[in-house]
Amino acid sequence: MDLSQTSTNSGLSLGFLSHVSANNNRSSKIADDSISFQIEHRARDLSHPLPSVPLRLLDQQTENRYPNHAERNNSNENKVIEDDEEKDVEFQLLGHPMTLKRKRDCDSGSSSSFCSSKGSRVTSNEIESRRNAVRAWGNQSLRSADPSIFEIMEKEKQRQFKGIELIASENFVCKAVMEALGSHLTNKYSEGMPGARYYGGNQYIDEIEALCCQRALTAFGLDSETWGVNVQPYSCTSANFAVYTGLLLPGDRIMGLDTPSGGNTSHGCYLPNGRKVSGASIFFESLPYKVNSQTGYVDYDKLEERALDFRPKILICGGSSYPREWDYARFRQIADKCGAVLLCDMAQISGLIAAKECASPFEFCDVVTSTTHKSLRGPRGGIIFYRKGPKPRKRGMLLNQGDGSDKYDFEDKINFAVFPALQGGPHNNHIAALAIALKQVATPEYKTYMQQVKKNAQALASALLRRHCRLVTGGTDNHMLLWDLRNFGMTGMSFRSNFSFSLPNYVDIIKVCEVCHITLNKVTIFDDNGNITPGGVRIGTPAMTSRGCLESDFETMAEFLLRAAQIASSVQKEHGKLPKSFLKGLEDNKEIVELRMRVENFATQFAMPGFDV
Ligand SMILES: Cc1ncc(COP(=O)(O)O)c(C=O)c1O
Repeated sequence: MDLSQTSTNSGLSLGFLSHVSANNNRSSKIADDSISFQIEHRARDLSHPLPSVPLRLLDQQTENRYPNHAERNNSNENKVIEDDEEKDVEFQLLGHPMTLKRKRDCDSGSSSSFCSSKGSRVTSNEIESRRNAVRAWGNQSLRSADPSIFEIMEKEKQRQFKGIELIASENFVCKAVMEALGSHLTNKYSEGMPGARYYGGNQYIDEIEALCCQRALTAFGLDSETWGVNVQPYSCTSANFAVYTGLLLPGDRIMGLDTPSGGNTSHGCYLPNGRKVSGASIFFESLPYKVNSQTGYVDYDKLEERALDFRPKILICGGSSYPREWDYARFRQIADKCGAVLLCDMAQISGLIAAKECASPFEFCDVVTSTTHKSLRGPRGGIIFYRKGPKPRKRGMLLNQGDGSDKYDFEDKINFAVFPALQGGPHNNHIAALAIALKQVATPEYKTYMQQVKKNAQALASALLRRHCRLVTGGTDNHMLLWDLRNFGMTGMSFRSNFSFSLPNYVDIIKVCEVCHITLNKVTIFDDNGNITPGGVRIGTPAMTSRGCLESDFETMAEFLLRAAQIASSVQKEHGKLPKSFLKGLEDNKEIVELRMRVENFATQFAMPGFDV
């Protein structure tokens, strides 16, 4: 890959600059031990582009491995290798004078003794003891190398084991994924793409990344002639930002689901005071569409009206807290009407899509992003799929307007945006772990797992509905439900007589759940007048399904959730709603102690995947 090539759309080009110009504040410097180059933001000053020259690796010997003169003169340690017998080599690079410091060769080739820079001989004992000094800490176990971190990690292990994990975007990875994550692959630098890296020694890393890409396409039933994939993004937020960076110019328009409606901040987000929250809104212009405040479903007619007015260049479907299917065909129609690229962020539901347990966006979308660690059950990270090859035609008309050409041009733009525009070296341990997860995704066992995730979500939804709880949209099509707590305790006579308690603050329910070892997260929802209220919690089933829980277990979890709400209500009655006094009311509360014990007894029946406790 030639980094000197200009990406016309992103407005980015790479110029190689010597350290002489490193303080030029118009450029962002990327530097590591063997490569030093700068990205010139041409979009800011298109009239004065820097000349681009191909990136070259510097000789390893240019690394400054030795302390400077002052440090050397002050140091008493390692005297044998620190004397001033370096040869200075002067040369020019792009017209700039440079000096290369090189160690003078001594008696090379002896492994049991060598000549110090002062000429004295170092004995094999000394050599061995110096080697051992380095090896000693290189091979310590975590427990002995860092007891403090070890202890905290052990506590986190226990927390995961003893608790009920209902956060919809969390999951428990399997042992094989865990092994790859904590492996030697973290040692390797591999900037670039398979077969075109900026470092040597990447033959196996290339194999791993190529296999990961191939498995990613297989997992989603994609043909490598028409779809490409980038598995390097560190997270889905970075994956989304790479898509914007690759396909848009700063200030171009994007449109995604409003965050209070369940959208993700990486699709654009403003605070009520107008403050721009995410990079998507800081560097691009974002206007959201919303769900219908009465039904909780995406309001497609309003979305179309807004999109035709706003004319986004990227239209985004997919969100963080949306329990229903997406109408991808309708999104495609709208995107085509306003000439937008259609991006699906399938982060929440990618596991369901891979298992064909919900509708696939691939038939309709141009670009698809995802996290890899939610329902997909892989390591923490992001992934980008993009269309490639000829664009489809319909009645002689080219679909997907874009730049008007008859071929997709996403591949180079997106890959360039991931590296070097936004990221550095890929996390190879993550990519190997993802390859392992994607292999599993393509198995019948994974399909069964995803089916169970859905059955469990249905079981939990009906258990809550039977207890007169209110769910946004009345239920779920996927792995999550949104429990609307605003009317909690007020719906249904039988419920009120069985559980007579007043409306607790939703935050308090989350707090009570947390101290009882149940984790979930809050969500904002629309009230009946269309106002945003922070009144709900999102509950997901993938993590506990990974521990082997079935429908009847989710009935039990519904009981626990109700009990937590009941406790929150009675503590509130006794201690008031102020956070400080409410928290005081939780201390040494017998009901809490009892519920926590029930939760722990329940949770510890189920093994933890990935590690022993
Ligand atoms: C739809 C969606 N997109 C993006 C993200 C952000 O993912 P990450 O944490 O990997 O940046 C999330 C996280 O919950 C999400 O739900």
